[in-house]
Amino acid sequence: MTEHTPKKLFIKTYGCQMNVYDSDRMADALAPHGYEPVQVMEDADLVVLNTCHIREKASEKVFSELGRLRDLREERRANGQDLMIGVAGCVAQAEGDEIVRRAPAVDLVFGPQSYHRLPELIARAHNGAKVVDTDFPEEDKFEHLPAAKKEVTLARGLTAFLTVQEGCDKFCSFCVVPYTRGSEVSRPVEQVLREARNLAEAGVRELTLLGQNVNAYHGLDARGRSVGLGELCARLAEIPGIARIRYTTSHPLDMTDELLEAHRDLEALMPYLHLPIQAGSDRILKAMNRRHTRADYMRVIERIMAARPDMALSGDFIVGFPGETDADFEETMQVVKDVGYASAYTFKYSIRPGTPGASMDDQVAEAKKTERLQRLNDQINAQMHAFHRSVVGRTLPVLIEKAGRQPGQIGGRSPYLQAVHMDGPTRLIGQIIPVEIVEARNNSLIGKIVTVAEPNPASVIESQAIAAHI
Ligand code: 5AD
Ligand code: SF4
Repeated sequence: MTEHTPKKLFIKTYGCQMNVYDSDRMADALAPHGYEPVQVMEDADLVVLNTCHIREKASEKVFSELGRLRDLREERRANGQDLMIGVAGCVAQAEGDEIVRRAPAVDLVFGPQSYHRLPELIARAHNGAKVVDTDFPEEDKFEHLPAAKKEVTLARGLTAFLTVQEGCDKFCSFCVVPYTRGSEVSRPVEQVLREARNLAEAGVRELTLLGQNVNAYHGLDARGRSVGLGELCARLAEIPGIARIRYTTSHPLDMTDELLEAHRDLEALMPYLHLPIQAGSDRILKAMNRRHTRADYMRVIERIMAARPDMALSGDFIVGFPGETDADFEETMQVVKDVGYASAYTFKYSIRPGTPGASMDDQVAEAKKTERLQRLNDQINAQMHAFHRSVVGRTLPVLIEKAGRQPGQIGGRSPYLQAVHMDGPTRLIGQIIPVEIVEARNNSLIGKIVTVAEPNPASVIESQAIAAHI
C-alpha cells in the first residue's frame, strides 16, 4: 500500500434492512476518522461492499463487482493514486480468507461483529497487511458503535431502522444466518432507548426494529431484568415523537403472549406483521428444521388475530426445498390462501454451502422450482391486489413522508406499509393524518385528506388519537 490515506467512503449495500442499518453504522464509525460518504463509487478512496448471503448467486455478484474494483484500482495506480477495497457482511463472514484468495485486490474482509473496529482494521490494512477479521468476539459491538448522529439521521428522513437483536439460534436447515451472524444477542434496553431518543429528536416518527429473529429479543434493562419485545415496544412508544413501531423478522415460535398483548394495547405498534412460515407441508417444515407444524403456525395466527383483528400479514416462502413434491407444494399454496397474506417474499431454494440442506438428497429440478415460484407469485400478487382494493373506502391514518411527483401532491404510508398518494400541502410532511382511500392502483393507493391538523406540537397527539379511532 502507498502512504495515501483514503478519506472518501462509498459503501455498496446488498440485501436486507439489517445491512442498510449496518452500512449507516459503518459510516458513523468512520466519520470521526475523517471519512465522508460519496455518492459514486468512482469518487471513493475506500469502497466497502456490504454483502448479503441470502439471495441466490450472492457470492458471484460480489466477486464480479470486485473484478470491476480491481480494474478501477489499476487505473488509479497508473495515475499515482490508490483505492482501498473492503468486503463486509454475510459473504465476508461465510467466505473469509477465500475472498482474499480469489480476489487478491481486496485489502480487508470483516464480519458483522467487527464494524466498530473498522478504523483499526483500516490502519492495519494501510500498513500493507491483508486483514481478515471474521471472528465472533465476545465484546459487545453495539456498545462501541457511536450513537447515530443527529445530522446524519435527519438526512435519513422520518422513518428509521434500529437494530435491537442480531443472530439466530434456530438453525433452519436452509439458512446460513446462524453461521454468519452467530447466536442470538439482544441489545440492552437503555441502549436501544437512547438511540431511539436520538432518532426521535432528529425527526424520526416511525421505527422499524430489526433483528434476524427479532421477536426472540430479550435485552436487559437497567436493573438487570430481561425484557421482551412487547415491553421494549411499550417503552419506545413512550418516546415523544415516536408514533409508529414495526419489527422484522419474526419466528412463529417466539410470538409470546407478552408480545401479543403489546399488539392489543399499543396504538403505535402497526397492524402489519411479517411472520414467515416458509412452506405449508409438515414434512417439509420438519426437513427445514422449523420446529413447528402448519397447525402450530395457524394457532399463532389465530392468537394474533384475536389480539389485533385488523392485523395484515406477510411472510417468506421457499419453493423447491429438497424433497418437496407437487403435493407438498400444493400445501404451501393452500396455506397462502388460508392465512390470506397481504404480501410475501418468495424464493427458490438455493444451496448455502455448510448448511444441512446443501447435502440433502432429492434436490428439486430448476424448472420445477421456476414453475412453482410462478404459481406462488401469481397467487400472492392476486392477494396483494385484493388487499389493496379492500381498503378502498376506508379512512386510514397516513404518515406523510414526502412531496409527490406532481406539484401539489404528497405521499406517505398507511399502517400496512402501502404507499398512498394524495393532493395536499408539503407542510403536512411528518404528520399522521386521516386519509380516505379512493382508489387502488397496482402498487399504491390514491387518497383524499379527510381533515388537516394544523402543524403544531399538539398535532402529534391529535393524529395518534385519530389513529386510535380507526
Ligand atoms: N434458499 C432460498 N431462500 C432462502 N432464504 C433463506 N435461505 C434461503 C435459501 N437457502 C429465505 C427465507 C428467509 C428469507 C430472508 O430468505 O425465506 O426467511
Ligand atoms: Fe434463518 Fe430465520 Fe431460520 Fe434463523 S429463523 S435460521 S434467520 S430462516
